Amino acid sequence: METQLSLEFLRVVEQAAIAAARTMGQGDRHKADDVAVEAMRQVMDSVPMDGTIVIGEGERDEAPMLFIGEKVGAARVGKDGNLPSVDIAVDPLEGTNLCATGAPNAIAVLAASEKGGLLHAPDLYMEKMIVGPSCKGAVDLDAPVIDNLRAIAKRLDRDVEDLVVIVLDRPRHEKLMNDIRAAGARIRLIGDGDLSAGISAAVVGTGVHAVMGTGGAPEGVLAAAALRCLNGQILARLVVSKPEHAERLSKMGIKDHKRIYDTDDLAPGKKIIFACTGVTDGNLLRGVRFFGEGIRTHSLVMTLDQRQVRFIDTVHLEKRPDVKVRFF
Ligand code: FBP
Repeated sequence: METQLSLEFLRVVEQAAIAAARTMGQGDRHKADDVAVEAMRQVMDSVPMDGTIVIGEGERDEAPMLFIGEKVGAARVGKDGNLPSVDIAVDPLEGTNLCATGAPNAIAVLAASEKGGLLHAPDLYMEKMIVGPSCKGAVDLDAPVIDNLRAIAKRLDRDVEDLVVIVLDRPRHEKLMNDIRAAGARIRLIGDGDLSAGISAAVVGTGVHAVMGTGGAPEGVLAAAALRCLNGQILARLVVSKPEHAERLSKMGIKDHKRIYDTDDLAPGKKIIFACTGVTDGNLLRGVRFFGEGIRTHSLVMTLDQRQVRFIDTVHLEKRPDVKVRFF
């Protein structure tokens, strides 16, 4: 089932990425997001599953498509009554500004699991620390930054000065940046996209050793799904800064508002599938390329149970008699 669904989900993220990439650099992040959502939603109903969106574009009243609780998949359109129940988390365009400005690392993302395998995280901020397999268990969300950097450097058998930490370029991270700089590590500031940064941190050879700072909680759950497949680690805590945040958590049945979530808490599923396609060129994936005879996409598709990590280069050919495939 995982193999079949993972290739189905590949189609879903590919189409979302292609739709978004057509708007690249047009300066309209909302349009970029809308077309990605629409494309993803459309392909989703051809997937043989009984799917439920658990992380999506928002609550039912604020998102017309891919809203939390929405039923998706072939079961919804009545194609088959006996299809697997699947929970789905999506970010049809992670990095809307990145796409709108043609900046690197915009991706289209989907994670899936058996029922209950992905935390239904509220759309709040989340403090995060993400590391790769070698540093699993070495970091602590509440430890001073310098201690975490020393622990990461030790596990990676190098000096703190050799580390690269990705941080979202936001005023809220001023102290974090000062602490990282004071410890001697290097920083790569990003305008957006801490999810693709988190995936990079878990892949050896990307030159990214950790991601630190506060970003979206939905992106945290998606990152956890990817990290389960890559054997990395995310430590995270929801940022509850207003009474309405606390109220929302209580309504969702989350009692401990200060809880530190580990990777398995955010994405506890046994059968996790993660798929993403590059929209713009990035650290791990190339962006969508349009050419006369078709479109080329670059994707990452992973299955936890089968321990498969696939980098997939797809050429979507035009239906023309003179079409040819180039090797490049
Ligand atoms: P969008 O895809 O919705 O534009 O979000 C991008 C992003 O940069 C995430 O990667 C990150 O987790 C979050 O926004 C940070 O939020 P904010 O821009 O409010 O600091």
